Amino acid sequence: MTKRSFASDNNAGVHPEIIKAIKAANDGHVIAYGDDPFTARAIKQFQKHFGPDIAVYFVFGGTGANVLGLQAITKSYYAVICAETAHVNVDECGAPEKFTGCKLLLLPTPDGKLRIEQIKPLLHGIGVEHHVQPHVISISQATEMGTVYTKKELKTLASFAHDNGMLLHVDGARLANAAVSLGATLKEITADVGVDVLSFGGTKNGMMYGEAVIFFDQKLAADFKYIRKQGMHLPSKMRFISAQFECLLSGNLWRRSATHANRMAHILASELAKLSQIKITQPVESNGVFATIPKKHIPALQKKYFFYVWDEEISEVRLMASFDTSEEDIRDFVKFVRKTVK
Ligand SMILES: Cc1ncc(COP(=O)(O)O)c(C=O)c1O
Repeated sequence: MTKRSFASDNNAGVHPEIIKAIKAANDGHVIAYGDDPFTARAIKQFQKHFGPDIAVYFVFGGTGANVLGLQAITKSYYAVICAETAHVNVDECGAPEKFTGCKLLLLPTPDGKLRIEQIKPLLHGIGVEHHVQPHVISISQATEMGTVYTKKELKTLASFAHDNGMLLHVDGARLANAAVSLGATLKEITADVGVDVLSFGGTKNGMMYGEAVIFFDQKLAADFKYIRKQGMHLPSKMRFISAQFECLLSGNLWRRSATHANRMAHILASELAKLSQIKITQPVESNGVFATIPKKHIPALQKKYFFYVWDEEISEVRLMASFDTSEEDIRDFVKFVRKTVK
């Protein structure tokens, strides 16, 4: 078997229950592009978890979910406020800017989380024709730094956005990990706190591919079917994304997998923290561990276990746990790290 590493939850394979669901969906012909019973059942599951009044659309990937969700709620003279570390800023190759035309207004954060005090000064130009118009606050839940917004923090951001004529967009590529971390339902940290548009991730939580764009006010989704098609994210064999989401959401697979990944991250962090040369740099609140490791040891470690260096300056690395990370994987990795850094 290929060795499991800690580079990314995207490096993991597909959960066996999801594979089973895909296989079960591979029977006969159904109408393409979403007019099929698998999609109808998956949408029902989304309504069960997020509320009956949502509009939900499936897309191929997370970048597409973010970009198209943002495109649906913006005009090119708007601005999207986000953390400097946000996936929409760092890892989407300028797609949000290209497809929305919007300027991203970036804010530095120590932990990936935006706070309203830093957003306020960006709003002075509202109504002034010389300036882009801030219209969306985009946050990631869990954040790219593995931290999680509390319900109160989410509510504060949503109310602040709405009080200032803006909308709250959430990149929920790891929303399941955040919900588990907070002991909350998916609805309690989205619809109930005032989120307007959500990218809901499946891939990092054990699906093969497929993400969902959810609008909590259906009016915001008025043109989305055209935006999705023009944005090249209308899957023809939709049933295979739908079958995966139905599998993820109909039982408790989404929660089981995220709970496991979060727990593995906690164990990994507490084992690494025992090594004096290593410092955990972020609170471990989801399935990511951030730690500084002396630079000179990184090449030797990466030879055996590939992982990403997140911040070259301080030699900070990111280690991710997945639904299939085992305690044995952690034991072996930590043993190797201990031997390498001593
Ligand atoms: C926070 C976040 N958002 C979105 C994505 C989705 O990216 P992709 O387009 O690769 O599915 C990722 C993937 O790494 C991510 O970490």
